[in-house]
Order: sequence, then structure tokens, then C-alpha cells
Amino acid sequence: MLDHLTVVTHPLVQHKLTIMRKKETSTGGFRRLLREISLLLAYEVTRGLDMTTTRIETPMEEMDAPILDGKKLALISILRAGNGLLDGVLELVPAARVGFVGLYRDPETLLPVQYYCKVPEQLEDRLVIAVDPMLATGNSSVAAIDLLKQKGAKNIRFLCLLASPEGIATMKAAHPDVPIITASVDRELDSHGYIVPGLGDAGDRMFGTK
Ligand code: URA
Repeated sequence: MLDHLTVVTHPLVQHKLTIMRKKETSTGGFRRLLREISLLLAYEVTRGLDMTTTRIETPMEEMDAPILDGKKLALISILRAGNGLLDGVLELVPAARVGFVGLYRDPETLLPVQYYCKVPEQLEDRLVIAVDPMLATGNSSVAAIDLLKQKGAKNIRFLCLLASPEGIATMKAAHPDVPIITASVDRELDSHGYIVPGLGDAGDRMFGTK
């Protein structure tokens, strides 16, 4: 059982995150670092997965060797920035099923509006890992998890790169059963709902839009 909040303090994660935060880091550099960090975060978010054993034969002898148990994981990218984290996690767990939830944040109300949802079947039997680099107000994360629960998901983890104290509190109030795994809890949100010190708009930085 994971704690409600896990901050991944591994030196490699923290070093890469610092370079990503720098405003002069290029789009290509940002994307490469995000992929590298997501591999390391994937290692943490998949900690404690159910295991079983299978009988195999090494060149030396037979053994009961550990393998993952149960149905394939479901990775859910919260569009569009979630795709940057998704790529790395998928590299580590290539057999995972993948879904997408499209939410945009109304700039005035800061509330999420859903425009797309396509998720794998039998979510109720899978570990579901929702990915979004920025847990800011928490409104869109809560809405995405609401949606996944409506689709049957029971065992959900939330993976992000940065979280705000406000976003963590909002998620904990709405979904105390969903552990959050992040590389950093930053100071606060600004009046536009951006994380500070943060790294700016994650989608713009990874796709080179503005
Ligand atoms: N989304 C982002 O991309 N950045 C923030 O700081 C907050 C939400």
C-alpha cells in the first residue's frame, strides 16, 4: 500500500527536474528530460505491483521465477501534457493498455471541461495509472479520476512531475484512495492557477507552442 503522497527524491530525478525548470531549456531538451524522468518515476509508481511466479528453465536448472500478476496495467494520459509522461512509462511497461482523457481548463473559472475520453476495457480489474505532469489546482485531476471511477476503475494511482499543496489537498479531499507520486511539491499556485516556482506551462514547453 502506497502512502497518499510519495515525493521521489532520487538525485537523478531532482537534477533533471532542475534543468527542466530553467526557462532557457529548449523544447527538445525539455522533452528528452521529461522522457528520462518519466522512466525513473515509472519505477516508483509501479512499486508493489502484484506478483506471481512461473516455472522456467535457466541454462542451469528449473526455478519458480517472479512475474507480474493479473491483467495488464492501464495508463491514462490526461491530455495533452500527460503524453509527455506517458511515453517514458510506456517504455518501461510496454504491454500496458493506454487510454486518454481530454480536459481543458476554462481560463476564467479554472474548472475542467471534458472533450475526449477513450479508455481500455475492464478498468475494474486493472491497476490504473493516470499521468499528468502538473497537479496544479487539482480540479482537472479530480475530474479525470471521477471519470475513471465512473468507468469502473477501483485501483488508481496518480503520477505527476510537480504538485502544488493546493492540488494535493483537493485530490486528498475528493479521492483519498488515490496515491499521488510526484518529483516535487512546489510552494504554491499563483492567481492564474500556475505552480510556482514551477516550470511554466508543461504542454507549451514540451510541444513548443505558446
Ligand atoms: N499547468 C501547467 O502546465 N503549468 C502549471 O504551472 C499549472 C498547470
